[in-house]
Amino acid sequence: MIDTSKVLISRDELSKMVDDVASKINEAYNGEELIVVGILTGAFVFISDLVRKLDMPVTIDFMQVSSYEGENSTGVLKVKKDLSTDITGKNVLIVEDIIDTGYTLQCLKNMLGKNNPKSLKICAAFDKPDRRVNDLKPDFKGLVIPDEFVVGYGLDYNGMYRNLPDVCVVKFVED
Ligand code: IMP
Ligand code: MG
Repeated sequence: MIDTSKVLISRDELSKMVDDVASKINEAYNGEELIVVGILTGAFVFISDLVRKLDMPVTIDFMQVSSYEGENSTGVLKVKKDLSTDITGKNVLIVEDIIDTGYTLQCLKNMLGKNNPKSLKICAAFDKPDRRVNDLKPDFKGLVIPDEFVVGYGLDYNGMYRNLPDVCVVKFVED
């Protein structure tokens, strides 16, 4: 059985986190047009909160990639949905839910970089730096979290719990 009763980050803290990240992004782009690339499915809650706080002209596109099954990365990045927008010469901000090993975003950065965007930056709601296998650093990040598996605010365990309004720790308990 799975217990998700332990709240790690409350909805109020999440709301403040979004405000902080949005104001840093607004400051960095200084009114320049931006293409926000949301990584499905986990980033859908964060991105919907975040884009409503951005003050430059914004277009939004999504990609879906996967390297995970259950709790573990399979080490192979599959593109399930590609961009619909031409990003050549544009400011691009990849928005992800969480950076764990850093593998997903490193692969994505390399892939999108080949299309010669004007700029290519990364924003993540959560960061687990203890788990990193490369030197990937987000340009904008919400909150650093410990090495624990969390769900809620878009994050899932096997597709479940994305709808939880707080970020909660997953505890596996015997039935
Ligand atoms: P990375 O490639 O290891 O950095 O993995 C990033 C992806 O792993 C995220 O987009 C999430 O889908 C998933 N992930 C990593 N940690 C967690 C977690 O604690 N809860 C839910 N999903 C996670
Ligand atoms: Mg994800």
